[in-house]
Amino acid sequence: MSIMTKIIKLPAPQTDFQFPLMKALELRRTKRKWKNTNLSEQQISNLLWAACGVTQPESKKSKSRRTAPSVCNSQEIKVCIALNTGVYRYDEAQHQLVKILSKDIRMHIGTQKMMKSAPVGLIYISDFSLLSEFIHKTREQKWVSSATDVGFVSQNVYLYCTAANLSTVVLGLIDRENLHKLLGLQEQEKIMYTQIVGIAVDK
Ligand SMILES: Cc1cc2nc3c(=O)[nH]c(=O)nc-3n(C[C@H](O)[C@H](O)[C@H](O)COP(=O)(O)O)c2cc1C
Repeated sequence: MSIMTKIIKLPAPQTDFQFPLMKALELRRTKRKWKNTNLSEQQISNLLWAACGVTQPESKKSKSRRTAPSVCNSQEIKVCIALNTGVYRYDEAQHQLVKILSKDIRMHIGTQKMMKSAPVGLIYISDFSLLSEFIHKTREQKWVSSATDVGFVSQNVYLYCTAANLSTVVLGLIDRENLHKLLGLQEQEKIMYTQIVGIAVDK
């Protein structure tokens, strides 16, 4: 990946990648140790597609559908990925990365010591403007829907990581204000959680 690249087309996700679902559920675990190696573009492609990739394209009748459900198919959860070359927004419709920051912010993904070696950081952002006022009468309802929807995305990532021998940990111990500033987000864009992913260390 070139540092100058603004858009990175990801390889197609390996949707025929095989690992027994029930085994993935049994083996899913939070793992906080990883190798000091980058993920391949194919792994990043699979990871992001598993998170919330498009499984049914938009049609005249319906919005697209994704691997993760969302309230009224609002698709308010946006995923950003922090790599050593910068931060990218996952454009799920085009299955590509759009660079939003040319800075390595991986050490700010969470507040624990392990951030120092985090190879890949996912940042889950809820765009409150995509949540209908009709259903969400209060801000609290928007937080509830967003927190629920981000859980599905994170669990998809957990299951893919289990299948692909990757280590992952979802993080609530984060400095939301700092991350929000670093990413230059709008007021209606709320940082929900982050998640680290790395190549698992040999057992
Ligand atoms: C909402 C949420 C926030 C979490 N925040 C952190 C965190 O900030 N740091 C961390 O090391 N683990 C965090 N975890 C991981 C939990 O500690 C872990 O899921 C729990 O110990 C159960 O382990 P398991 O995932 O292997 O079943 C979080 C998990 C969830 C669901």
